[in-house]
Amino acid sequence: MSWAEVYPWSAPEVGRPVIRQVYDQVRGAIHAGALKPGGRLPSSRDLALRLGVARASVVAAYDQLLAEGYAQGRTGSGTYVSQDLSGVLDLKPGSPAPEPAPPPMLPERAHGLAEITARAPALDPQTFSNGRTLMDARAQDAWGASTRRALRHLSPAHFGYGEPAGDPGLRAAVADYLRAARGVVCDPEQVIVTAGAQHAVDLAVRLLLKPGDRVWLEDPGYANTWQALLAAGAEGVAVPVDRSGLVVQAGVAQAPDARACFVTPSHQFPLGVAMSMGRRLELIAWARSTGAWIVEDDYASEFRYAGAPLASLQGLDGGERTIYVGTFNKSLFPGLRLGYLVAPRPLMQAFAGLRRLADRQPPTLTQAITLDFMESGQFAAHIRRRRLAYKAQRDALAEALARRLGDVLDVDVPDQGMHLIAYLKDGRADLEVEAAALRNGVLARGISPLYHRAEPRHGLLLGFTGFPPRAMDAGVARLAAAIG
Ligand SMILES: Cc1ncc(COP(=O)(O)O)c(C=O)c1O
Repeated sequence: MSWAEVYPWSAPEVGRPVIRQVYDQVRGAIHAGALKPGGRLPSSRDLALRLGVARASVVAAYDQLLAEGYAQGRTGSGTYVSQDLSGVLDLKPGSPAPEPAPPPMLPERAHGLAEITARAPALDPQTFSNGRTLMDARAQDAWGASTRRALRHLSPAHFGYGEPAGDPGLRAAVADYLRAARGVVCDPEQVIVTAGAQHAVDLAVRLLLKPGDRVWLEDPGYANTWQALLAAGAEGVAVPVDRSGLVVQAGVAQAPDARACFVTPSHQFPLGVAMSMGRRLELIAWARSTGAWIVEDDYASEFRYAGAPLASLQGLDGGERTIYVGTFNKSLFPGLRLGYLVAPRPLMQAFAGLRRLADRQPPTLTQAITLDFMESGQFAAHIRRRRLAYKAQRDALAEALARRLGDVLDVDVPDQGMHLIAYLKDGRADLEVEAAALRNGVLARGISPLYHRAEPRHGLLLGFTGFPPRAMDAGVARLAAAIG
C-alpha cells in the first residue's frame, strides 16, 4: 500500500492544533485498517518531513497514541500499532452504526422517567404557577447581607468535604425552628439537610421501600411523590381524601400491611384540606400496630392564614414512626434547593449514608448563608411578612375569581398553603380549560389527572404566591376570556 493511500492528507489545516491533526490521522488510518495491528508506524522524523510539521508534534501525537493503547513502543525499533487491537477494530468510535441500526437498549424504567420531564410545566414563572415565592426587596437585601457575612467567615471546612447529613450549625437551627414552630420532637442529629422536600421524599422512598412493597398514597395526590415511588418499583395504593384528609380506614381496608404512608397533613396536596386530629391519631395507631412508616410532607406549613397551625403529625407520634419532611424552597425560594427531613433515631445514620452515596453532602456555601439568615432573625421576619402578603394575594385572587367567574367556578379558599382550587361548576373538563388558558398565557392546571381510583373532580389549581396582588386581576381576566 502506498504512502498516500495510508496517509491521505497533505499539509495540516490552519486553526486546529497540529498535534491533534497528526493524532487523528494516524488513529483514523488504524481504524480504517490501513495500518494493521503489529504494523510499524513511520519514524517520527520521516512522518514530520512528509507532513511538513515539527518532529516534536509527531512525537507528542505518538505519545498520546501510546498512552491510549493504540500504539506500542519497542525499545530501539520504533513504534508499532498495538497487537491488542487485533479483532476489535471494527468497534470504531463515532462511525455510523451498521444498517439497520438496532434500537437503543433503554432500560425499561427510562421510558416512564423521560415522560416526567416531558410533562413538567414551563420553567418560566407564569401567572398562577404553583409553588413560586416572592423574595421582596427587604428579603433580597437581607439575603445579600447574609451572603456577604457568610463569605467573610469562611473556614477551611467550607472548602472541603462536609458532613453528609449537613452543616451541624444549620441542623441545630432547623431543629430549634421545627420544635418551636411545628412541635416536631427532635434533636439536631436527627435533622438531615436535603436539597428540598422532593429530595427528602426520594431518600425516604429509597431507604424504606423495596420493589413490590405496597404504600398508601393520597388520591388525589402530588404527582412527583407517586412517580418517585413508582420509579422505585413500589406499588402505590390510592387512598381517598375527604374534608378531614386521608381516609385512614379506606387504607386499612385496601392494604392493611402497607410498608408506609406518604401524606401531606397540614395542607393536603392538591385539595388543601388539613388532616383532622382524629385521622392523625388513627394513622399513627395503624403505623404503630403494623410497623409501617409515615412520611409527613409538610411542604408549605409556614403559610397558615387563620389561627395557629395544627402541630406536626411527627410531634404527635413522638417521632417514632414518622419521617418529617420540610423545605426552605417554599419558605424562601425554589431555586435555593435546600430542605430537610427529621429521621427517627434508628434511621438517621442510614439516611446520612444514603445521602453520601447519592451526592456526598449538601453544598457548604448555601448552608452557611441560610444559617446566617436564620440566626440574624431574617428568616422569621421574612415568614411573618410573607404570611401577610400571601394572605392578601389569596384574597385578591379569590375576589377576582368571584367577580369575574363566580357563575362558572366554585372556589375553595384555603386557610393555608400557596394555591387554591377553583372547581368547575357546569361539567366542563378541566384539561380543556387548562389548554385554553395556556393559549391565553395563564397556567391553570387541571386537577383531574391527580386522581387515581377516586372519581376525579374537575378543578383548576391556581398558585397565588409567586406574583403581586395587582397581577391577579389581569390573570383572572385572561382566564375568564379562555373559559369564554
Ligand atoms: C406536596 C409537595 N411536596 C413536595 C414539593 C417539592 O418541594 P421542593 O421544591 O422543596 O422539592 C412540592 C412542591 O411544589 C409539593 O407541592
